[in-house]
Amino acid sequence: MAKKRKITIKQYLSAVLRVMRHSFGLAPSSAIFKAMDSIIQAILPIATTYFAALTTTFLVEAYSGAEGASEKAILYVMLTSVFGVFSLVWSGATSVISQKTRYTINSAIEDEMILQLSRLPFEMYDDKETIDLYDKAKRFSHFFGYVFNTIGDIFSSFIGAIGSIVALSLITPYLSFIILLAVLPGLIIQMRLTHKQIQHWEGSLVTRRRRFHIGKLLMESRKMSEMRVYGVAKYLVGLFKELRDIEKKEDIRIEIKSTWQRSLADIIGALVELGALIWIALQIIDRAQPVGQFVYVQQLVSRALAQMGNLADRMASIDEDLANLVDYHKFMELPTVDDSGHELQKAPEEISLKSVYFTYPKTKKQVLKDISIDIKRGDHVAIVGENGAGKSTLIKLIMGLYKPTDGDIYVDRQKLSDVNQESWHKRIALLGQEFIIYEACNLRENITLGDVSKEPTDHLVDRAVEAAELGEVIDDLERGDKTYVQRWMADETSDTKATELSGGQYQRLALARNFYRDAPIVILDEPTSAIDALAESRIFDRLFVSKKTIIAISHRLSTIEKADVVYMMKNGAIVESGKASRLIEQRGEFYKMFSSQIKKP
Ligand SMILES: Nc1ncnc2c1ncn2[C@@H]1O[C@H](COP(=O)(O)OP(=O)(O)O)[C@@H](O)[C@H]1O
Ligand SMILES: [Mg+2]
Repeated sequence: MAKKRKITIKQYLSAVLRVMRHSFGLAPSSAIFKAMDSIIQAILPIATTYFAALTTTFLVEAYSGAEGASEKAILYVMLTSVFGVFSLVWSGATSVISQKTRYTINSAIEDEMILQLSRLPFEMYDDKETIDLYDKAKRFSHFFGYVFNTIGDIFSSFIGAIGSIVALSLITPYLSFIILLAVLPGLIIQMRLTHKQIQHWEGSLVTRRRRFHIGKLLMESRKMSEMRVYGVAKYLVGLFKELRDIEKKEDIRIEIKSTWQRSLADIIGALVELGALIWIALQIIDRAQPVGQFVYVQQLVSRALAQMGNLADRMASIDEDLANLVDYHKFMELPTVDDSGHELQKAPEEISLKSVYFTYPKTKKQVLKDISIDIKRGDHVAIVGENGAGKSTLIKLIMGLYKPTDGDIYVDRQKLSDVNQESWHKRIALLGQEFIIYEACNLRENITLGDVSKEPTDHLVDRAVEAAELGEVIDDLERGDKTYVQRWMADETSDTKATELSGGQYQRLALARNFYRDAPIVILDEPTSAIDALAESRIFDRLFVSKKTIIAISHRLSTIEKADVVYMMKNGAIVESGKASRLIEQRGEFYKMFSSQIKKP
């Protein structure tokens, strides 16, 4: 069961204040306009009612022949209608401006959050708490503009209700007092309902996340083929429904439970209204009040009740969002990677790892043990080992994405943790095991994203395409490298073409991006696992004649043999190192692992 997260009045008010301060900072003119709008929306109907009441009074007087009453009646009719027209025009204008305000504020918040997400220390992406926090904070950010508007509405309902009650007290203070009493139960019931809903929402995070992932999976055609062959698609649809129902049923149960309470509150409100109307009717019959006061009381009482109801509704509706605001602020205050540190001015001459140990945060298993290696500029290094040996982890540490738990990594005798990350990453072209295909981009963009700091030219793109042997693929396409790489991007109306590539072709595309980057250090983590052996051999032949520093993880002996030095990893430690030919002669771990690929004489 999730921890109860009740938001206190103090937290509520301070959250409201924060939203207002933040909105004002982001869009000052919109914020001022909204405040003005709230006041006008609250006062205008009261003024209209006032004139409508006067109109009625003078109409009755004119009807009974009183002198001068008819002119006044007509005058007030006109005034009432002027107010009415003004009301209409005003609310038309505000709805447009509100939309724009919401857009301005929402997008500012969204940008802020995405930027913050992209600046978190890398290991935080692995941290469940951070991701949970982001989830909740994101939810808040989507609703920020809405919350801002709702706060305006709350303010407006509040002034509207208070205004009506004050206006009623001009007739008799009792009336105002009774109405205040009548709206209390409704307010309390609404607040309690919301608290229950928040708790439910918080408690069902895992259910919701599972459902989300299944929903996403079911929409991916590539994954669908495996799921259908395994016969799990139907099973997953069932699970999806089940998860959705669990979530919704509880919501409905809470709603039903409070329905009768709310009906009771409504009945109390209706009775109070009836009492007030009977009272004013009797007063008018006794000639203690003018006839128009019936309109006045009827309008104001129903308005006071409606506005109070509105107030409760609105307050309750943003209660949950305000609770998420706390998470939003927590998220925005997470530490980000600082961009200070020693700037690398040129490609480093040496990378050295000195007795590096590593354990992933919040886990126990030592993934790297006492790793010491020196990589000089221009070295071609291969890292080999079974799945789970720690190869990819080693690369993540060299990239500076994680810090060693013990030991240090140096770049030109400078501790890597003291080196400015951006200046380090600029020197590296990485192709990870889980490479990215930018589905929102065409083939060419997928390549030029390798280095967004340089102006793309045909020459640079062609060179990368050639090195990754992607030319044939592109030549076969009607639109060449302007083709999108995900079939659903195709569009007849805008004549946009898209294609689906094979696994190996996608990998070549990612490889082309890596080559396009043209960095002095190239890191490749099983970059050719889906590429056929001959092509891999050719690609690496070309790569290994370059003067670049290369760190490559591969399972193919023909590739490994090209490296100057091979590091064989086992259970997080380096167990053998040297040229492949020497390691084969040694008849040790390396020989054992690659024996099936070694040509027997
Ligand atoms: N983000 C992570 N959090 C916790 N453990 C991880 C993470 N990534 C990898 N591991 C663990 O670290 C070990 C080494 O993984 P990895 O470096 O990916 O191996 P390799 O690349 O050699 O196949 C494995 O036991 C794996 O379960
Ligand atoms: Mg790996």
